[in-house]
Formats: sequence, structure tokens, C-alpha cells
Amino acid sequence: MDSMRMLSETAMRFPAALSFSSGAPYDGTHDPATLPVYLDRYLRHLREGGVPEQRIRKLLFQYGPVNGFIREEVARNLRQDEGIDVPADAVMITSGCQEAMLVALRGLITGPQDVLLTVSPAYVGILGAARMLDVPLVGVPEGPDGLDPDTLAAAVADVRASGRRPVAVYLIPDFSNPSGTVVPLAARHRLLELARRERLVVLEDNPYGLFARDGEQLPTMKSLDRHGSVLYLGSFAKTAFPGARLGYLVADQPVSGPGGSVRTLAEELSRAKSMFTVGTSSLSQAVVGGMLVEHDYDLRTATRATAAVYAERLDTTLAALAAHFPPERHAEHGVSWNTPRGGFFLTVEVPFVADLAAMERCASDFGVSWAPMSMFHVGGGGDRAMRLGFSNLAPDDIREGVARLARFISDTTPGRYGHDVPRE
Ligand SMILES: Cc1ncc(COP(=O)(O)O)c(C=O)c1O
Repeated sequence: MDSMRMLSETAMRFPAALSFSSGAPYDGTHDPATLPVYLDRYLRHLREGGVPEQRIRKLLFQYGPVNGFIREEVARNLRQDEGIDVPADAVMITSGCQEAMLVALRGLITGPQDVLLTVSPAYVGILGAARMLDVPLVGVPEGPDGLDPDTLAAAVADVRASGRRPVAVYLIPDFSNPSGTVVPLAARHRLLELARRERLVVLEDNPYGLFARDGEQLPTMKSLDRHGSVLYLGSFAKTAFPGARLGYLVADQPVSGPGGSVRTLAEELSRAKSMFTVGTSSLSQAVVGGMLVEHDYDLRTATRATAAVYAERLDTTLAALAAHFPPERHAEHGVSWNTPRGGFFLTVEVPFVADLAAMERCASDFGVSWAPMSMFHVGGGGDRAMRLGFSNLAPDDIREGVARLARFISDTTPGRYGHDVPRE
């Protein structure tokens, strides 16, 4: 549970080190002047929609609806950007995606035999949330194409054979954190079919979907879902800014209530949300709501320039790694990495144990930090791998950071290879 805090504090503990350890978004477009503009835009939107002043004052200043008041705007954005067609009452606005995970787990996992399956490695936020709520976790090791349907099927069978109940499976199909993998289209369909057959809820987390390096994104699992299997988790941390602490959950599954009434699972889950945070910040909702209105609900277009920044950073990281560790000399240096099609992260395999102690030595003695991949694994694994997060480093810093990393790897590799640091 400490991994999340340790990762976010690495930069503070090693201020002189270049940081590949976080997934903080690029902040070159974070301009304080946009905040009042978006807030005003949202107020104008309400007034143009005929909302009385008295109600506007209440929305901004009072305790608000537990599930939030920008649900309609988010539903429109999901239709526009992701082809996800759900009514506003299927959306719950949360205090970051982190709260959406807590609410989903609290609502779905109800008995001692219930188990959450998760792709492994996985985002530390879901692992921490599960541990906080004492939710039993089973890791399903991913391959180069993320979560594989056959591996998941075998894990589901194992859990059932142990007398427990596999309730849900968590994954990040697009540009996963930490590994950068993408689940191919055919596998998405097969995972959905498996979920239907096994009555498994798919928790699809998608903070990076708009940041494809080549601009091409596969359809989300939620948009492909025909059987109500997917509960979708969203975040505005990367499309707006993380300080807003704004995310959402999409759960359109019908739930029967008292007296034959039917409501959405998102509405049903509001009981849990009300106990976590009562409601989500009205100011953050108004600012992000204004941003959505201002961009005509089209964040794909609004974030195009930012997506190009990430694509350049990914390409710079890949080129710098190839310059220091030529793939044709792999037998000599033993370093390899994957080539994600987008997102904020990639995985580097090294010929030694890359644990927290190694990272701290690298940060203090070589001036560059990264995240040990083992932190993201459930039930072991990733001992000789690092996560490089390149989203918040400028290209020159990426080149310098990879040069420093190469010196550390050379210094740490058993039987040290004669590493030439290329001059750039
Ligand atoms: C996969 C994944 N989900 C969720 C989040 C967090 O979202 P939020 O800041 O909205 O809580 C992150 C942030 O790094 C992430 O990588």
C-alpha cells in the first residue's frame, strides 16, 4: 500500500534526479488563467439551459447530489469520444478515479468468498484499494498483449476450484499502467464473452485511451459490451489535470429496488460513495464541466496537441534506449524493452534485480529514478524489470535520463559489459 506514496515522493526525496518514476501528466498546458474561464463557461451553460440562479448558487455552495451534477456532460463526452452510449444516471462523478475504484470494489465484493482478479502487473491504485477494503486479490499474469483470455479463463477456474467466487476482473486495455500493453481487438471480444459466460464484472480502467502514439485507438470494452458486463472507470487527471481530483464510474446495469423499481448500478452504488466522500467537489465539477462544454464534449480533439507531446516523448525514450542498448547486442548488455503504441509508460527488462534499493542507489548515485516493476505485481514477478514513465520529462531530459540509466545499468550488470555511452 505504501508503493503509491513512495512513487509520488521519489521526486521529493531525490530532487536532483531526473524522474522516470511517476506518471504525472505533462504540465506545459496547465494555465491558471483557464480555471476562471472554464468556471464561467459552466455557469453560462447552466444559465443558457434555464437553470434558475437560486439552483446555481446551491449547486456551487451547498452539499450536492452524491453522484455529481456534471453526469449529463460526461455522458455526452463518452458518446463523443468513446462511442459509449449511456444515460446520465449511469454515471457517478467521483473524487478521482481512485474513489471510483473504492466504490466499485465496495459495491461488488460482498462476501468472504468473493475474489477480485486483476491483471498483473497492475496500477498500484487498484491494488491498494483492494487491500484497504480487505478484498482478496488474485493476480493474472499478463503477456505482451496484456490480459490474455485463456490465462484469465484458467485463473477463473482455479478460483472456483478453491471454493471461492471470482466476481470481477480489473484491467487497463489501453496503454496499461505500468506496462504500456494494449489488449488487441479480438482478445477484447473474447474477454467479454468469457465475462458473460462466467458472470464476471469487467472493471475497465481507461485513463490513457486518448493518448495513442499513432492516433489510433481500439474501441473500449465498454463500447463493445452487449451483455452489461463492463463497469467503466474514467479519470480527468490526464485529460484535464490531476489536481481537480475528478474521475467517474459508468455502471448502467439495471438493479431492482423496493416496490419493483429499477435503477442503475451507479445509483445503487451512491450509498457507498456517500460514505467515502459525501459528494465530489462542486468547484472541480464546475471547472471540468466548463471544459467539456467549451470543447463541445470532444476531448479527443482538445487533447490532440498534448497527445503529440506524449508521442514525441515515447519516441524519444525508445530512440535513446536503442542508442544505448543496440538490440543486436542484446547478448552483451541483456537489456530489452517493449514498444507501446501510446500512453505514459514502458517496461525495461534488465539483467539484475531492479528493486527499491536498486532504484534508490540509481537515484542518489546516478541521478535518475524509475519504478521497480515488482511493486505492481500481485503474487510476485517483475523482479528484473523497471517501469519508465516518460510523460513529464522534456525530450532533452529523457535523453540525459536514459544516458544516466545506461551508466547505472552498466555499473550494476554482473560481469559488466564494456558500455560506451554515446555522445549526443
Ligand atoms: C490506470 C490508472 N487508473 C487511475 C489512475 C488515477 O486516476 P485519478 O488521479 O483520477 O485518481 C491512474 C493514475 O495514474 C492510472 O494510471
